[in-house]
Amino acid sequence: MPGEFELEINGTPFRIEARGQCSLLDVLRDQLHLTGSKRGCETGECGACTVLLDDAPVCACLVMLGACQGRRVVTIEGLSKGGQLHPLQQAFLDKGAIACGFCTPGMIMAAVALLSSKAPLTRQDIQRGLRGNLCACGAFEAVVEVVEAFSERTQIERDS
Ligand code: FES
Repeated sequence: MPGEFELEINGTPFRIEARGQCSLLDVLRDQLHLTGSKRGCETGECGACTVLLDDAPVCACLVMLGACQGRRVVTIEGLSKGGQLHPLQQAFLDKGAIACGFCTPGMIMAAVALLSSKAPLTRQDIQRGLRGNLCACGAFEAVVEVVEAFSERTQIERDS
């Protein structure tokens, strides 16, 4: 039996009619057409569906809509502002830390959460923080390098 759920997605309030047991990923992709969050394993193993729920990274495939009532969700589509990519998205592009691109949105969302948790991040912090995000193409080390450089750069900018 469907219910009504109110949540904020990428800064916009939504009232969604669906079964509370629907996954957040299904609602985002199939109902709201926010297809940046990828459907990979659907078992919480690959991280391709990572979004922020009240600023914490979660696998949207494992979160039920009913658990999102009154909460804030940010997807990869919500990172850019005024048509400008988030600086971390731009850094991924500039450094070519993208292979097929399937894991990239989840990687970026996990990295955004990681970067806001601590600064500066060590390489180990980043490897540990992103270990739930799998890249089948072998771009993981390039991703770690980009996030490390980004963390150092933002730390310098903060200190200056
Ligand atoms: Fe959610 Fe793989 S699709 S973790």
